[in-house]
Amino acid sequence: MNVLVTGGCGFIGSNLVRYLRAQRPGWKVVSLDKLTYAGNLENLGELEGDPGYHFVRGDIGNRELVEHVIRQHSIDAVMHLAAESHVDRSILGPEAFIVTNVLGTQVLLDACRPTGVKRFLMVSTDEVYGSLGPTGAFTESSPLRPSSPYSASKASADLLALACGHTFGMDVVVTRCSNNYGRYQFPEKLIPLMVVNALHDQPLPVYGDGGNVRDWLHVEDHCQALAIALEHGRSGEVYNIGGGAERPNIEIVKGILSILGKPESLIRFVKDRPGHDRRYAIDPSKIKAQLGWTPAHTFERGLEETVRWYVDNRPWWERVRSGAYLQYYETQYRARLEPAAA
Ligand code: NAD
Ligand code: DAU
Repeated sequence: MNVLVTGGCGFIGSNLVRYLRAQRPGWKVVSLDKLTYAGNLENLGELEGDPGYHFVRGDIGNRELVEHVIRQHSIDAVMHLAAESHVDRSILGPEAFIVTNVLGTQVLLDACRPTGVKRFLMVSTDEVYGSLGPTGAFTESSPLRPSSPYSASKASADLLALACGHTFGMDVVVTRCSNNYGRYQFPEKLIPLMVVNALHDQPLPVYGDGGNVRDWLHVEDHCQALAIALEHGRSGEVYNIGGGAERPNIEIVKGILSILGKPESLIRFVKDRPGHDRRYAIDPSKIKAQLGWTPAHTFERGLEETVRWYVDNRPWWERVRSGAYLQYYETQYRARLEPAAA
């Protein structure tokens, strides 16, 4: 099988490409990535020279290029991960999210139809469901109530993919997963940001009261679920993917400090994210029952391994944190280091 992974040089995409080459060695994997600030060729440096892996730099919104790549590599299936992925950035500037996540996804879907792509896997997010109260979990039939520009753009893409299935008979499967963690995550997201700041003895900015809850999923468990959903998912169906590891943010931050042997006095409670969803929790029973997937990682062990990876791979994140990222961090992010109850 020949698979096109969009966003293959980002956090999940690079872990997915590596996973597919190791676990599905008979598959040819092509990565199409624009290499935005979040895309990094270094993430897949170890695949250099691998005849089963090809990289194409390009935008999913460039229909001519996408059709050319699909035909050139006789692509059978598309795993669509390319996106603007950070909620905070979508609050600062939603436009790029609409261009890539909404328009880009439609262009990609349109390019797949005349070129004979047999299956389209849309990687969506649990954020399309909005926020939960203190109890309950999202199922695939929970209503979509996205609350940030990011999640609204992902909900649009998710529904556009399903609409392509209904209207044009395209074979589409949608997955909605919870917060991923693991190696090669860009250090603007909670876990790597806190690790890197702690290693620099800089304040760890916890939004609001730190009581917001996320449901953590190891990226390798996610990659396994995506491969299974591509192979065995039922056409037109949605599958929730979650690691069963709900934790309040403050607990994660304290856990990271404890692994690193750093003091809790580094924690700084800061102004909350506007429209901050309080709690996410995923019910993954459908993918477990129908496709036999189950996560292999426990959160505490996975977090410890992840933190150690960042400690051991300092040159990677030091390079990633330079340039455009540093500019963003200095101008926007630091501005938010104001006390929560100012
Ligand atoms: P990421 O930001 O690390 O990577 C995104 C990748 O997409 C980058 O390599 C970037 O260069 C590429 N890209 C961006 N715009 C592009 C365009 N127009 N054309 C081609 N490539 C483009 O994101 P991630 O965390 O790896 O997330 C991957 C996917 O999974 C996204 O669709 C995201 O919405 C979804 N998701 C992520 C999480 C999570 O916890 N990280 C959870 C649920 C769903
Ligand atoms: O739930 C899936 C989503 O998870 C994905 O769709 C997104 O692509 C991914 O970025 C992630 O979104 P979040 O907004 O949950 O991730 P983030 O790491 O930005 O934040 C996690 C939690 O930590 C959230 O409650 C906000 C909080 N936070 C985050 C940062 C960056 C802080 O308290 N301080 C911070 O500095």
